[in-house]
Amino acid sequence: MPATALEIDLRSDTMTRPTPEMRRAMADAEVGDDVFEEDPSVRALEERTAEMLGREAALYTPSAHMANQIAAYLAGRSGDEIWAHELSHILGNEQGGTSVLSRLLPRTFSGPDSTPPREWLERLIKGTDDVHRAQPALICLENTFTGRVMPLEGQARVSAFAHQHGLKAHLDGSRLWNAATALGVSLAEAAAGPDTVTVCFSKGLGAPVGAALLSDRDTIRRARRARKLLGGGMRQAGIIAAGALYALDHHVERLADDHARAERLAASLSAAPGLSAEALTNMVIAKTEPGEAPKLAELAGAHGVGCIAIAPDTVRMVVHLDVGESDITEAAARITKAAEALAA
Ligand SMILES: Cc1ncc(COP(=O)(O)O)c(C=O)c1O
Repeated sequence: MPATALEIDLRSDTMTRPTPEMRRAMADAEVGDDVFEEDPSVRALEERTAEMLGREAALYTPSAHMANQIAAYLAGRSGDEIWAHELSHILGNEQGGTSVLSRLLPRTFSGPDSTPPREWLERLIKGTDDVHRAQPALICLENTFTGRVMPLEGQARVSAFAHQHGLKAHLDGSRLWNAATALGVSLAEAAAGPDTVTVCFSKGLGAPVGAALLSDRDTIRRARRARKLLGGGMRQAGIIAAGALYALDHHVERLADDHARAERLAASLSAAPGLSAEALTNMVIAKTEPGEAPKLAELAGAHGVGCIAIAPDTVRMVVHLDVGESDITEAAARITKAAEALAA
């Protein structure tokens, strides 16, 4: 579906366009060569992000994907194990990068969120001194996880378990801003525990490019080298960093509006024939009759509303900066029409 045909684009919160004020901040950004660590805007963004997340240091990366891959690369040696949810982004949606780039062996679990169950952890940690066994190196968490908030007790428990057994823990917090908003805690509280944390500026916050990896100073020094190895050293990146900095100042508090709008959309869609919908932070997860989700997404697209079938019976809609109150009313009406056409 070409984006131009979509009047209301709920496919992802990556679809936002920079606001005029953000574009002005970007145009006015002071810049330098960031590979030489001489870009004042990038430096300001890294310092500000580290301060907000309560970490010693941050590294600006072109994408959350790259930040996750750098975390995996630093945590394990070739042949070591990486533990993560079977549907985690780091394992399932980054082209197998942890296997290709870092040659880690994935061990997966399933469940409602990205926190590995206690019994699974206890089972996996047994026998790691056996000569046949690969060595576990990293446990990955994700918050939010397809919009679902992971309870912080789980994050603390898994991080403590990792450290007790000499493993590292990584948090893919691409939407940690949404999790902190939903939990009513500070970003530093939401980030506490894991050794490394990814956050993303180009999802809910509406910046055009970039993410950050957070950790202690020495890990971030090594991460800077790994980013260069991957070809991710950027030059006058202050222009895009300024968009992210603007987003940190102006677009974090408003995330509660996205969550409220997602609630309203879910409530309206639950009244549509054959649909039941649930709001999870800024995402609406709608269940259809078995096998109907791709047809519903296609019909919604024909009505100018973009959404994605993420399973044969599940459609995902994501509320973001470019979706206002009237868009929610309009999207609910058009998707309801599509559901009625399917049910007829
Ligand atoms: C949870 C999560 N982590 C990481 C990423 C990677 O983000 P990007 O493709 O912008 O690098 C995404 C992308 O949607 C995501 O949803």
